[in-house]
This record gives sequence, C-alpha cells and structure tokens, in this order.
Amino acid sequence: MLRKLLIGTALASGLAFAAHAEDVKEVQMLHWWTSGGEAAALNVLKGDLAKEGYAWKDVPVAGGGGDAAMTALKAMVAAGNYPTASQMLGYTVLDYAAAGVMGDLTETAKKEGWDKSVPAALQKFSVYEGKWVAAPVNVHSVNWLWINKAVMDKIGGTEPKTFDDFVALLDKAKAAGVIPLALGGQNWQEATMFDSVVLSTGGPEFYKKAFNDLDDASLKSDTMKKSFDNLAKLVTYVDPNFSGRDWNLATAMVIKGDALVQVMGDWAKGEFHAANKTPGTDFLCYRFPGTDGSVIYNSDMFGMFNVPDDRKAAQVALATATLSKSFQSAFNVVKGSVPARTDVPDTDFDACGKKGIADLKAANDGGTLFGSLAQGYGAPPAVANAYKDVVSKFVHGQIKTSDEAVTELVKAIDDAK
Ligand code: GAL
Repeated sequence: MLRKLLIGTALASGLAFAAHAEDVKEVQMLHWWTSGGEAAALNVLKGDLAKEGYAWKDVPVAGGGGDAAMTALKAMVAAGNYPTASQMLGYTVLDYAAAGVMGDLTETAKKEGWDKSVPAALQKFSVYEGKWVAAPVNVHSVNWLWINKAVMDKIGGTEPKTFDDFVALLDKAKAAGVIPLALGGQNWQEATMFDSVVLSTGGPEFYKKAFNDLDDASLKSDTMKKSFDNLAKLVTYVDPNFSGRDWNLATAMVIKGDALVQVMGDWAKGEFHAANKTPGTDFLCYRFPGTDGSVIYNSDMFGMFNVPDDRKAAQVALATATLSKSFQSAFNVVKGSVPARTDVPDTDFDACGKKGIADLKAANDGGTLFGSLAQGYGAPPAVANAYKDVVSKFVHGQIKTSDEAVTELVKAIDDAK
C-alpha cells in the first residue's frame, strides 16, 4: 500500500527542491520528540550540526510512540516533499525502503565503519538490500520500572523480583494512599507495558515466539491468556483519570511523588534527567519483575530519504554526526537510551544508563535481545497497530475477558499479516 502511494513521487521531489539552492545547508527533520527530555536530547544534535554550519528545520509532530508523526510523514512523502531524514522505528524503515524512496548512505557507512560498530540487531533495520538507508540514533528498551525513591522508602518497598512481588508492592502504595501505577491510557503506552507483561509471564522463548515470530500456537496459548489476566491486574492500580494521558505526564506523576511507579521505556529517564533527578537518590530503575536478563528493545533511526543532489551533503553531515562516538554518548545520556554503537564508553552515563548498556550487551551475547512489538521492532506496522488496538480495547473494557482478548489478538494479527 505504501509503495503504491509513494510511487512516482521521487521525481516530483527532485523538481520541487532543485530550485532551492539555499536549502543545501539545512537539515529538515521530522520527529516526535516534543517532551522536555526529548527536546533536550534533540538540542544536542542541533548544536552539533550548527557547529558545522547547518541550519535546522524542525518538523515536530507530537504524540509519543510516533503514530501521528508517521501519518504526517506518509503525507509529506506522497506529496513528493521528502525531509532530509525522519525519526522512524524498525519495520517502518524497511517499508519505506521497499517503496524505493530511501537514499543510500553506504559510502558514509563504509568510511565511518558502521558495519563494525553497529550491532546486527540494528543493521537488520537500517540496511536494506545491502544499502544503508537509516542511521540508528540509540537503543531504547521497554522492560523497565521507574520508581519514586521517597515514596518507595515511605511504604517500605523493596525491588520486586516477580510479578507477585510487584502486585504486593502496588498494594503497599495503595494502602498508603499513593497512586500505585502511573499509566497513560493511549494504545501505544498500554501495549508497551504489555510487551513486558508477556515477557514476564511467559519467559524469553515465549516472548520471541509470540511477538517476534508471530507463532500462532503461542499467540492463542493459555500463557497469552494469563498475560492478559496479569495486565488486567495491573490496570486495577491505575488512577481513574488515565485515559488519553500523555506518557510524559505519567512520568511527571512519578517524579512528583503522586504515583509510585511507571512501566515505560527508558525515554522516561530523559524526563527524570531533565528534572535534575538522580538515580538511587530521587528515583530507582529496575527491570520489569521477572524479565531480568532479557531486553525488549527499540531503536530510533533517522531514515534517510532520497533527496536531490543539492541536499545530500546535509544528509551526510547529519548521518555522520549521528553516529559519531561523542554524539552517541552526549545524546543518549540526555535521552535515557544507550548508544547504537558497541564501542562507546559508559563513563558519562548515570547508574541506570550503565545498567542499560551492560544489559544490552549481555542480552545481545546471550540471545535474549528481542524486538518490541509495541515499538515497531517485533513485526511490520500493520501487525503492531492491530496489537496495540486489541490491548487498548482490553484495558478500556471494550474487550471484556482474557479469553476474548486472545481470540481478538489472534484474529487481528492474522488479518494484518
Ligand atoms: C518511542 C521512541 C522514543 C520516545 C518515545 C516517546 O517510540 O523510540 O525515542 O520518543 O517514543 O515519545
């Protein structure tokens, strides 16, 4: 579908921009980094490019998880109006590459040695038919808990190691009159949390089979049903006003101590960082109970479009800056993520970042690094969207039982495949 929509726009794009010689020293970037922590991270990149004389033309499309941004991108590309680059997740990069609208950064990649420094799990999504089409910015992971330390001390809580421990901890918060679980009731946030619940409930092999291999037997199994039961349990600890809440507002509830914990990808740490909070003192980062040893990842990539020749130098400058070692450290310290290269020292990272880097390495070496289905790394966008929809309907009571949720999930994924 994407291919059809986009076909024939490459030429239009070339003509549209060829006349604008003044565009050459400019990077036009579409992204959904509009929260405090995200904007602070993006400023690192803007600063680096400014030093090299490139102006920044911002195309922000608010909405965590990027669904709105991807709708905007589709319209831009269909109109032949290619940005220099767009923030993208995994399978979306491959979709655009298959539609023939991406550029080719292979020469830059060779010069900079990306083949050697970028892990294979990321190259799978940034290299298409042997050509580099995207520059990976970071690696995020979703199976984290973000906890307010003062609230934790007040309720006498300790790190929950199992799902039952987690429920007991949430009960303690509830008894103390604190909102136990901060959640934003938007489908991508609910599904991002469910990724962790499934890994915790079924274990690493089960997560992989169900959410990366889309194995039918796993999707319709009792373990998946149990995962929905566990999700339903967690939702009982959410405050009544959660529908539609943005993810960073949920993080703010934890930062302020209005809530004990948020289950969210480590972009949440970017918000703690922006609020000058320190891990161990102000907040705690633990792996989602029962998922220690595994990492569910996503990676923000800058998808590089096939821009006209007079815009290519800016694109190369962007790609080179993005994968430089110094940027990979400086940016990811602020963003909450970890470097997309394996040779960046962890020196400047806080305790959670150091743990993130070590966990990623261990998971990569041990075969327990899995793509997030909610975050575009488990399956193509149509499947991911079907998944988010079913999880959200379950959380909001339109799907009433775990049995029904399993049936709907299997059907929705089948239809989307
Ligand atoms: C994710 C993205 C992160 C963060 C988050 C919330 O999809 O990978 O970088 O921006 O959305 O907006």
